[in-house]
Amino acid sequence: MKNTAIISGASQGIGLALAQKLLAEGYTVIGTSRNGKIDAINNPNFHAVALDLSSEESIQKASAEIFQKCDTVDMLINNAGIGPDLNSLAPERATFDKTFAFNVMGTVFFTEALLSKIKKEGKIINVSSKMSSMGVCNTSGSTAYLILRES
Ligand SMILES: NC(=O)c1ccc[n+]([C@@H]2O[C@H](COP(=O)([O-])OP(=O)(O)OC[C@H]3O[C@@H](n4cnc5c(N)ncnc54)[C@H](OP(=O)(O)O)[C@@H]3O)[C@@H](O)[C@H]2O)c1
Repeated sequence: MKNTAIISGASQGIGLALAQKLLAEGYTVIGTSRNGKIDAINNPNFHAVALDLSSEESIQKASAEIFQKCDTVDMLINNAGIGPDLNSLAPERATFDKTFAFNVMGTVFFTEALLSKIKKEGKIINVSSKMSSMGVCNTSGSTAYLILRES
């Protein structure tokens, strides 16, 4: 039986590249996007699922759909992440709320919803950023993203 990977935010960027890589390695991949469409991949082993990490209802709906598509999960890649304050210097409540609701709470509760399907020897990979490293990061902007991508 093929290994199964779930990748949040697989419609573009790093998530799309990871989905293509794992498909090439023989995985069955379930990738998410907010509208549930990922036209860039045309592969019978790929399934797109709608997920908005800022919505508890969407998380529950997406996990129910994933449960119908696979019995067990070998790898969950929490890739989806936003940085709404990437170029601002001062912290703002609205961007903190958005970043926290999505990058932190959304990721935690999506993972929690899938835990029972993830094999004991399975992997949960959380994509972070070098911006969270005090040693590497040399920007003073993006307060919410920088703090909340801390690993
Ligand atoms: N790019 C970089 O330079 C960089 C550097 C360091 C770390 N990272 C981290 O790497 C990860 C991927 O970055 P990226 O640049 O490849 O991202 P990206 O190109 O902006 O793609 C973000 C993905 O997240 C999905 N998404 C957006 N809002 C969402 C929501 N509310 N709920 C669920 N999914 C949502 C998008 O799908 P739809 O819009 O189709 O819904 C898209 O597939 C992020 O965690 C980021 O913090 C990126």
